Amino acid sequence: MTTRWLEGRVIENRQWTDTLFSLRVEAPKLAFQAGQFVRIALDVEGQQVARAFSFVNPPEDPLLEFYGVIVPEGPLSPRLARLRAGDALQVASNPAGFLVLREVPGARSLWLLSTGTGIAPFLSILRTETPWQRFREVVLVHAARHARELTYRDLISGLQKQRGAALRYVTFVSREAAPGSLAGRIPAAIGDGRLEAAAGARLSPETSQVLLCGNPDMLKDVTAALVERGLRKHRRRAPGHITVESFW
Ligand SMILES: Cc1cc2nc3c(=O)[nH]c(=O)nc-3n(C[C@H](O)[C@H](O)[C@H](O)COP(=O)(O)OP(=O)(O)OC[C@H]3O[C@@H](n4cnc5c(N)ncnc54)[C@H](O)[C@@H]3O)c2cc1C
Ligand SMILES: NC(=O)c1ccc[n+]([C@@H]2O[C@H](COP(=O)([O-])OP(=O)(O)OC[C@H]3O[C@@H](n4cnc5c(N)ncnc54)[C@H](OP(=O)(O)O)[C@@H]3O)[C@@H](O)[C@H]2O)c1
Repeated sequence: MTTRWLEGRVIENRQWTDTLFSLRVEAPKLAFQAGQFVRIALDVEGQQVARAFSFVNPPEDPLLEFYGVIVPEGPLSPRLARLRAGDALQVASNPAGFLVLREVPGARSLWLLSTGTGIAPFLSILRTETPWQRFREVVLVHAARHARELTYRDLISGLQKQRGAALRYVTFVSREAAPGSLAGRIPAAIGDGRLEAAAGARLSPETSQVLLCGNPDMLKDVTAALVERGLRKHRRRAPGHITVESFW
């Protein structure tokens, strides 16, 4: 499908930290599934620079929302972070991506494991009815370098109030001591059982479907830790338990 570029307008740019921001954007209605992404673009010195961004909003929301980190040397993200209400940006007409529950087999537990801005597509998924209809429990895991980067806590608290014990929220902070968060990285905590203990759920091929999003090294290392536990990559032709989306 060829891309048409649609005119979007920034309604709000929320600055979470020096490096993290989220844009709420008004744009013509786009058809997508929770968990998908779309390319957004700006003109930089006469050239269009486009990058993929996951939707944070669920499909029926009238405004689009994107969650980004400033990669200082990157061509697009520092410019997106500087946008203000009223500024224009371009949004591609063709959302895409396979990190969607329609592709995921049934199980007792749905594990959503993210690093950094990789939490974005999971926030969209969690705001639809599908996970709550299809899984008995959902474990949302967010790993960040610093505690201040564990964003969207109000949204997650609201979901916890609404969904009760069906939603487990586990956080990791790797570069400082942070009460209430696990220390270090996700793969080590799968290996030594700390993640399951914190989630109150079992990670096994019999009970679990796992979605991973964010840093490609995390995807590789977590997949290896899960393979040790008997889970395997999910493919349409060979159903398994692990579905991944790499951000770079
Ligand atoms: C399917 C898909 C969905 C994506 N969704 C998001 C999203 O929702 N939010 C988001 O911030 N980014 C997302 N990205 C990454 C995004 O497309 C850009 O790469 C990012 O915004 C940086 O753009 P840039 O032009 O400044 O630098 P680029 O030239 O694109 O990237 C330079 C380097 O920055 C690092 N980097 C890129 N993205 C990230 C990131 N998210 N976190 C940490 N380091 C990163 C990598 O080392 C990369 O090589 C997604 C990428 C893909 C492929
Ligand atoms: N976060 C910041 O303070 C900061 C500041 C300025 C710019 N940036 C930009 O943003 C980029 C990084 O953003 P980020 O901090 O959101 O993403 P990140 O580097 O992917 O880190 C997010 C989390 O993923 C963990 N992680 C990294 N590799 C892993 C692996 N192989 N297995 C499991 N977990 C792993 C990190 O742990 P470790 O801490 O152990 O690596 C951290 O807890 C940088 O490249 C830079 O351009 C970030």
